[in-house]
Amino acid sequence: MILVTGSTGRVGRAVVAALRAKGRDVRGFDLRPSGADGDEVVGSLEDAAQLGRAVAGVSDVLHLGAFMSWSPADRDRMFAVNVEGTRRLLDAASAQGIRRFVFASSGEVYPENRPEFLPVTEDHPLNPNSPYGLTKLLGEELVRFHQRSGAMQTVILRFSHTQDASELLDEDSFFSGPRFFLRPRVRQQENFGNRAVVDLLRSKDIGEPAHVLARNEDGRPFRMHITETRDMVAGILLALDHPNAVGGVFNLGSDDPVDFADLLPRLAARTGLPIVPVDFPGPGVYYHTSNARIRDTLGFEAKWTMERMLEEAAAARQQRLPGERRQ
Ligand SMILES: NC(=O)c1ccc[n+]([C@@H]2O[C@H](COP(=O)([O-])OP(=O)(O)OC[C@H]3O[C@@H](n4cnc5c(N)ncnc54)[C@H](O)[C@@H]3O)[C@@H](O)[C@H]2O)c1
Repeated sequence: MILVTGSTGRVGRAVVAALRAKGRDVRGFDLRPSGADGDEVVGSLEDAAQLGRAVAGVSDVLHLGAFMSWSPADRDRMFAVNVEGTRRLLDAASAQGIRRFVFASSGEVYPENRPEFLPVTEDHPLNPNSPYGLTKLLGEELVRFHQRSGAMQTVILRFSHTQDASELLDEDSFFSGPRFFLRPRVRQQENFGNRAVVDLLRSKDIGEPAHVLARNEDGRPFRMHITETRDMVAGILLALDHPNAVGGVFNLGSDDPVDFADLLPRLAARTGLPIVPVDFPGPGVYYHTSNARIRDTLGFEAKWTMERMLEEAAAARQQRLPGERRQ
């Protein structure tokens, strides 16, 4: 029995579906019910009794559950879930004698948005600059502790930024809304309390919905990886099953980053919205992360090109009623 934490989330639900499609025995664990058929414990990583129920009878754990937030108001809860919750889960899993524990870490442990060299490899120094990235680094340390002191096989996957293709052209989606659409970006920055950035963005509003082309203070467009969830699932299944994954740390993501100067016109061609360039203060986001280790060691192959993702994103946008858009 494989336990998947975060089984209602973007990546977790796709992992559960993929494993069940292969006939594997899976139990989900999440704060929120998934609505899918199958074994599932609804509960919190913060609750020892619920964790105990989740781990009972399990042979492997894919720990994908986490609280992702960049809002200062969420900090206590984020550390409780991502750090203490991970410690409890590892201890419970180890006491149960499970075979393999796969941990979803993040490129924010380097952090990718302030790289010391490119491409970012697994040997890049670990200096997270966000509390979220710090929770992931502390989670990795807990996993490393179990790797050296216990009998469990452990694998650390440093996830790329991940999206369902269908989210890319959705102004209401958690990541792509604020990343690519001007007014959702304003709302996000209001929630973060970034007054100066809100004022900057408002000054760029052209009186109609628009895309935002994010650039740094020198006008350099942002560049980052956006990996499709289904490619992540393929990498996670390799981490679960491949003999050479044991004890490893792997960047998991697309082969190449996307440059926003190239991407935004491709988004706009599908939405018909104008593009507004905005030069944000600071160095901006500009990185390339190497997935060579997971390709060479485990045979990982990223199959979702940006073009393929955009085709699916455009179809999903077509299906949403225009009246549902909130811009
Ligand atoms: N999506 C990304 O860009 C990205 C990038 C790097 C790393 N990651 C990591 O990958 C993993 C999966 O990400 P995702 O995109 O599917 O995120 P997601 O937010 O869609 O899913 C996370 C799931 O964890 C659950 N969860 C949160 N708090 C919980 C708690 N206290 N107890 C039990 N469950 C709880 C949530 O309900 C949610 O269903 C996470 O660990 C995340 O930190 C994601």
